[in-house]
Amino acid sequence: MERIRTAVIGTGFMGRVHLEALRRIEHVDVVEVAATSAEKARAAAAGYNVLNATGDWQDVMRDPSIDAVHIATPNDSHFPIAKAALEAGKHVLCEKPLAMSSAQAQALTDLAAAKKLRNALCHNLRFYPMVQQMRAMREAGAFGEILVVQGTYSQDWMLYETDWNWRVDPKVSGPSRVMADIGSHFFDMAEHVTGLKVSAVCSDLQIFWPTRKQPKGGGETFSGKTVGETIDTKIVTEDFGTTLFHMGKARGAMTASQVSAGRKNGLVLEIYGTKGGASWRQEAPEELWLGHRDAPNQVLMKDPSLLDRHAAAFADYPGGHAEGYPDTHKQLYRRFYASIADLSAKPDYPQFVDGLRQMKILDAELASHESRAWVDVPA
Ligand SMILES: NC(=O)c1ccc[n+]([C@@H]2O[C@H](COP(=O)([O-])OP(=O)(O)OC[C@H]3O[C@@H](n4cnc5c(N)ncnc54)[C@H](O)[C@@H]3O)[C@@H](O)[C@H]2O)c1
Repeated sequence: MERIRTAVIGTGFMGRVHLEALRRIEHVDVVEVAATSAEKARAAAAGYNVLNATGDWQDVMRDPSIDAVHIATPNDSHFPIAKAALEAGKHVLCEKPLAMSSAQAQALTDLAAAKKLRNALCHNLRFYPMVQQMRAMREAGAFGEILVVQGTYSQDWMLYETDWNWRVDPKVSGPSRVMADIGSHFFDMAEHVTGLKVSAVCSDLQIFWPTRKQPKGGGETFSGKTVGETIDTKIVTEDFGTTLFHMGKARGAMTASQVSAGRKNGLVLEIYGTKGGASWRQEAPEELWLGHRDAPNQVLMKDPSLLDRHAAAFADYPGGHAEGYPDTHKQLYRRFYASIADLSAKPDYPQFVDGLRQMKILDAELASHESRAWVDVPA
């Protein structure tokens, strides 16, 4: 198979996750890293044995030998970088959220289709084997008709007034923080697992810290406590949100939080149907709880030999050999690059159109909160 040449733009938390996962993908070479300065890019490139480093992501676009790019920068730069990459004829794997608005997301979706280029959105959390197991069991009818969908995405890293990140700045992050940043992962997973679409939402968003202590020097994601001088900065995006939702006949509720002490990456998805239920937690991702009305409940541990064959394809290790967050990136990238190697294959990963879908849900959540009313989500 011909080798595929790729580049990673952004070298923060996600940039490093992408670089590391890419080293586990066969037939793919990372040939360039772009950061905000050549020095930062060189440091990351050297660590991952990448030959070229640049402080200007446009250099990547100017290199015709590069087939694909990974965008792992803050949200406001996704649109210009993805647009330039598609215009330069490169396949794109972009971090979520796809863009700052539905209009931008629509434009990228249309451009990728017009250019016939592969486009993936990094809703990697779908790719935990036990999430795939829940989906496969639902498809096989194990839960009957889905009636109830519920869960949360809870973190604690913005609990203190002194906690700061670019995500609190709407010019960089967009008009929503928690719902866009982590609520979108919940809804992507809920729709993927249930096969249902969110049709209406009723949202309540809360800012617990109307001002935060912004460090004069900035700070990377999950970099810990703020040190040094700070400026009191007004906060306009939510620390916490609740969304009630309809998925056709099914009913649901979710909360998303960056201020829930002790919850580090607490994504929980529960689905309940006419025949049974299932519950999965990201903080214990190898287990799937299966609920029964007339029999003892079960806990299924990841073991490819016991999984549905579709779900087993997402597990590379035997039972008892834990697979976690970095493996979800590997599973997504593997499928993205396989679809580049075979341009006739049907994509089996989230695409820009799924990013657009999340932007539409987000628009409805913001409109609902603003109007204190239910808002329909366009199909
Ligand atoms: N899929 C997931 O599970 C997941 C998890 C965390 C973050 N994310 C997403 O990944 C993206 C990055 O988030 P992060 O947590 O890594 O942030 P981060 O602050 O840790 O890293 C962002 C990096 O991008 C760099 N950068 C900014 N503008 C740039 C530019 N124009 N060119 C090159 N580099 C630039 C910054 O210097 C920084 O190093 C966000 O869109 C976020 O929503 C996704």
